[in-house]
Amino acid sequence: MTVTIVGSQFGDEGKGGIVDLYGDEADVVARYQGGDNAGHTVVEGGEEYKLSLVPSGAIRGKVGLLGNGCVVNPRTLFDEIDGLRERGLDPDIRVAERAHVILPYHRVLDGIEEDAKSEGDLEAGTTGRGIGPTYEDKAGRRGVRIGDLLDPAVLRERLEYVVPTKRALAEDVFGLDLEAAGETDSGIDVAAAFDVDALYEEFKNHGERLAEEGMTVDAGTYLAESIDAGENVMFEGAQGTSLDIDHGTYPFVTSSNPTAGGACTGTGLGPTTVGSGDVIGIVKAYLSRVGTGPMPTELGGVVGDTPGYDGTETGPEEELATKIREAGGEYGTVTGRPRRVGWLDMPVLRHAARASGFTGIVVNHVDTLGILDELRVAHSYTLDGEEQFTVPPTTERWGDCEPNYRTFDGWSASDWSAIADEGYDALPEATKAYLEYLEAELDTPVYAIGIGPGREETIVRHRPF
Ligand code: IMO
Ligand code: MG
Repeated sequence: MTVTIVGSQFGDEGKGGIVDLYGDEADVVARYQGGDNAGHTVVEGGEEYKLSLVPSGAIRGKVGLLGNGCVVNPRTLFDEIDGLRERGLDPDIRVAERAHVILPYHRVLDGIEEDAKSEGDLEAGTTGRGIGPTYEDKAGRRGVRIGDLLDPAVLRERLEYVVPTKRALAEDVFGLDLEAAGETDSGIDVAAAFDVDALYEEFKNHGERLAEEGMTVDAGTYLAESIDAGENVMFEGAQGTSLDIDHGTYPFVTSSNPTAGGACTGTGLGPTTVGSGDVIGIVKAYLSRVGTGPMPTELGGVVGDTPGYDGTETGPEEELATKIREAGGEYGTVTGRPRRVGWLDMPVLRHAARASGFTGIVVNHVDTLGILDELRVAHSYTLDGEEQFTVPPTTERWGDCEPNYRTFDGWSASDWSAIADEGYDALPEATKAYLEYLEAELDTPVYAIGIGPGREETIVRHRPF
């Protein structure tokens, strides 16, 4: 059996916690896209684990698989595995031979291109992990795959073709003096990042370790055998629908498909297999976004990310934003930078539910909104005098949309953990009205409600496995 977990908004919806909760009954947890741009937090036995690449299920002894649709930085992979081993865990991680490798030059180029774009407000505010440049090389048929690391002759051949083109890009297009550049902010030796011999030595070693530890697989075959043997497979989406390269707010997106179709192309299983189980959209009860691009329901703003916002405004919207940001801990997992926050946006969710075919949703951060007397939801938009129920295809048009808000009563609870014990009926009436509105609008049941960060602070109404 399979279950697919998909972010419905802009990432950071609390996917890690739900993968952890439902993943209890999974045997394999597979990521199908993205790389170490994700930030998934899992709390186990009072210990907090922050993972960016290793699938969350690995904390609980599941097989963690990185599918062919992922981009894998071996440095991050081994750092995370070693970190977990130091903490007494024994993660079982498999990596698709067809997955593409993030090389140091991808990270350097990610940084330079963002700098260049920032002059025209085109930067996406990437995580700087080299995600975009790696997928670019995949599509351009000049990438290095995990399987190539296992064969030194092939690795050498690939690097000898691609590295000179990367050097030319850095030097001739972006004007970088590679030998004088020193290290990037994240500690990458720039000269070595564009040096065939240095790259070959390091990545050949990564290949040897992958082989020694028996980590590489043909993902599709591995997963099909697991399913045939009666095992449960969970697909763990990273990022979210509005960051999808096809269905998101292009160009302010990531370079992969977090939507459920990605679980097919990114693992080597067909849509009938992925669609034979639940596809669950993870929804944050409000909206948050990291990086630039439009956000019609934004409250206040974040300097550097919100287009045209300079931080001098102060008013009720800024106050609300600060309140929600503080209550929800809306600061980047890795960078600590404040996330943009806004009201729940139904056009965004309708678009997500359709693009992935949600069979159920999980609504997280419901407790966070408990600090408000009244809350709002963008039920639809007005664009050129017409009411719109879903997001327009171009980002510029999306930026022109004016939200039509519906107001909901706020809720409060003195003891969320007691409610978690008692279950759905114990929720405040106003909370239930909010959740029922979501169910009706998206034509999808609410499977679970997150009312706190811990695993026990989730009301579970349906278990997909
Ligand atoms: P999880 O899995 C939120 C955003 C970046 C940037 C854009 C492109 O924790 O939900 P990239 O480095 O992917 O090329 O950056 O996507 N972004 C995320 N935002 N949560 C994430 O992951 C994200 N991964 C990437 O901020 O705007
Ligand atoms: Mg995150």
